[in-house]
Amino acid sequence: MSTHIGAANGAIAERVLLPGDPQRAQWIAENFLDNAVCYSTVRGMLGFTGSYRGTPISAQGSGMGMPSASIYTHELIVDHGVRTIIRVGSCGAIVDDLALRDVIAASGSSTDSQMNRVRFDGLVDYAPVADFGLLRAAADTADVRGLPMRVGPVLATDAFYTDRPDLYGRLARYGVLAVEMESAAIYTIAARHRAQALTLLTVSDQLVRDEHLSADDRERGFAAMVELALETAVR
Ligand code: ADE
Repeated sequence: MSTHIGAANGAIAERVLLPGDPQRAQWIAENFLDNAVCYSTVRGMLGFTGSYRGTPISAQGSGMGMPSASIYTHELIVDHGVRTIIRVGSCGAIVDDLALRDVIAASGSSTDSQMNRVRFDGLVDYAPVADFGLLRAAADTADVRGLPMRVGPVLATDAFYTDRPDLYGRLARYGVLAVEMESAAIYTIAARHRAQALTLLTVSDQLVRDEHLSADDRERGFAAMVELALETAVR
């Protein structure tokens, strides 16, 4: 057991898919994993372990935002021995050559969170990045499956509702593709504990054109990305 995850020792697999929404963790378990069992319902942040093509895999909700994602990432790695975390989430595209439902692998993650400023006493702007081996495995898997996947940096923001949407345009000019809310913390904590982490994202909002997926479309779009994440995790 850890503080926020009610799982017995050994109940969580070494490889974890980490959606923000705990209902998504259940949906992954029910639709993609064999013999999945729920190991935690603490705070409604559901976690399941099953297997995918014979390899044990867990699906754990992280909640929204970096404070919540940090807690689950830390406890998964430090208290439950997890070695590989693949976040599967949604994002808002801030460049115009991405469309709704496109899949992105976040190679790096800029952030407006102060967490790493505190971590490094404000002396260094630490650059959170994806694990290269996992990123390469995801890119190879996407190629083999014929799934177009864009690789590039994202912004992990603390604020879904922002008074500074102009910053998105400025970041886009520096190559940032999309905005989401968890990757920088997950990458930082995984690096600190020598675990592997990757963030895969489906574009649910096209912020340049003010386009948005419906709830049904979000679910359909999610399936291709979850399959890519599972195939990447078991490689
Ligand atoms: N995830 C999906 N859309 C987003 C947005 N507009 N901002 C932050 N995270 C998101």
